[in-house]
Amino acid sequence: MLLKKYVKNRRKLKILFLLMVIALIVITVVILNISPNVSSTERVLDERFIARIYGGGGGVVGSQDGRLEQPPLKSPRQNGVIVPEKYDEHKVKARIAQERVQQLRQEQQRNAVDAGEERTKLDAVTTGVHIFYSAPVAWYKTKKPQLVAPQLQLRGAAKELLNDVSDAVLSSASSSPTSGITSPTTTTTTVKPVRILNTAFYPALGLYKPTTSLLQKHFDNIHNCGIGVLILSCSGKAGEVELYRQLLELAPSYNLSITFEISVAGNQSVEFLQQQLEAVRRYATAESFYRVYSLARKRLVPVIYVSNAYKLSETPAGRALCQTHPETLRRIFDAYFIGHIRLKNHVDIMRRLCFEGFYNKLPSNGATFASTWKNWSYLKSFALTYKMLFVPTVGPGFAERNKFPRHGDIQRHRSNGRYYGVAWRTAILNHVGFINIASYNNWPDGSQIEEVIPKAGFLDYNPGAKTKYIDLTTHWVGNFLKTRHEAAAVAVLGQPSCYEFLNNTIC
Ligand SMILES: *[C@@H]1O[C@H](CO)[C@@H](O)[C@H](O)[C@H]1NC(C)=O
Ligand SMILES: *[C@@H]1O[C@H](CO)[C@@H](O)[C@H](O)[C@H]1NC(C)=O
Ligand SMILES: *[C@@H]1O[C@H](CO)[C@@H](O)[C@H](O)[C@H]1NC(C)=O
Ligand SMILES: *[C@@H]1O[C@H](CO)[C@@H](O)[C@H](O)[C@H]1NC(C)=O
Repeated sequence: MLLKKYVKNRRKLKILFLLMVIALIVITVVILNISPNVSSTERVLDERFIARIYGGGGGVVGSQDGRLEQPPLKSPRQNGVIVPEKYDEHKVKARIAQERVQQLRQEQQRNAVDAGEERTKLDAVTTGVHIFYSAPVAWYKTKKPQLVAPQLQLRGAAKELLNDVSDAVLSSASSSPTSGITSPTTTTTTVKPVRILNTAFYPALGLYKPTTSLLQKHFDNIHNCGIGVLILSCSGKAGEVELYRQLLELAPSYNLSITFEISVAGNQSVEFLQQQLEAVRRYATAESFYRVYSLARKRLVPVIYVSNAYKLSETPAGRALCQTHPETLRRIFDAYFIGHIRLKNHVDIMRRLCFEGFYNKLPSNGATFASTWKNWSYLKSFALTYKMLFVPTVGPGFAERNKFPRHGDIQRHRSNGRYYGVAWRTAILNHVGFINIASYNNWPDGSQIEEVIPKAGFLDYNPGAKTKYIDLTTHWVGNFLKTRHEAAAVAVLGQPSCYEFLNNTIC
């Protein structure tokens, strides 16, 4: 009605338009004035986040020698149960926006902020922290145009992680990570498969191959984070053996040990499990092959991860890991077997199948029972009750390049490092003996902590340095160690728990 009135009077209409144009110009000018400063304040913001977590009262916590002060974490408890802090992406984003404005003011007063470019390092590595390492990284996936049904394009670790994807697809999951999707329909096609880049972030070192100098650089980074153990995925393929031997040879000069993850995703037969164990046994003579001292067995015992272990339930191979089984596979290769679980009842399956422990593997909070941070205190107390090991898997986020609709969304936003922080805090507060990190360089999963570079069409770590997640890892590993030392100091007086030995020993 109002408009109609104005339309009759052309002059007033023109004035109205003029006013709108002026308003738009003013808004644009205001926005342009703010944005150039934003990126420069983000680094400080991140430090403030860390400072706030440790009760530093808003200032940057750092002592003269450049190290971060790390007071022990205090558990927020409700009825004796550890409650992880709430993680709400929207709230976090709103808070970031608010803090930006505040930060602009503080920035002007604090002109000479130390550059923050020098990296903190941990002096010693801990065998309590394990990290998934990919060699080589499967940068590409092959796509067969048109002929492949959409759900057959699902591949990669996520496929192994999600149980409910059809079994036909899963049976190809254990095949080579560099090979493409094998589909029963491909026999009819002559179309050349298309190679497509399979990563949402872009690596600072380019689409690298595992050369010696690259491995040295990676090992140096991992060592500086204080991480002591690498987890390699063992498939027993021909080319793998040579490369892995090289890694095992290189590891001791960086004080690193290496352990393996085998997978029973596509085949749960006894023969297959036996083949996998024999493949791992090939590396067992290496000096850097990871072992932990077992008080119960009075000797050093390897720790082996078993991906998709929960699928061994109700299969003959499952019970074959028990000592009591007449043809126990432990005669071929004995170890502490840590089984991959997803659901609540999987812990019972692990116990029945004589596994020594369990891990959640998928670092997406809320995606499965075991991946849900607030369920970790349950898993820890279950483990404690049955003298098992619970090894929580923490990760900075999860971002696959191609999102296909499937059960539950497992993509997780990094929220500028906060997601990683809450995962670590929850793991540490549960006083576990081991933590594993997914991952150093699983680029296809987008869970890597390795350096990125900004590139059009790819995600990156902005705001923040390209080494941001390596630096955060150093910080959290240090915190984990500190908290464990505190716990051990207290435990000397009472009864030391199996989780509180610091000398690479378990019960
Ligand atoms: C490895 O550990 C030993 C003893 O703990 C230490 O003396 C040595 O400096 C470490 N090596 C590296 C490369 O950090
Ligand atoms: C499982 O692996 C065994 C040993 O390699 C093989 O004989 C068997 O055919 C495989 N089963 C399936 C269903 O792939
Ligand atoms: C565990 O996590 C699930 C979500 O995956 C949630 O529904 C459930 O209530 C949690 N259980 C406990 C005991 O916290
Ligand atoms: C590790 O420490 C525990 C107690 O702190 C002790 O019982 C055990 O013998 C030690 N193990 C080794 C290998 O020194």
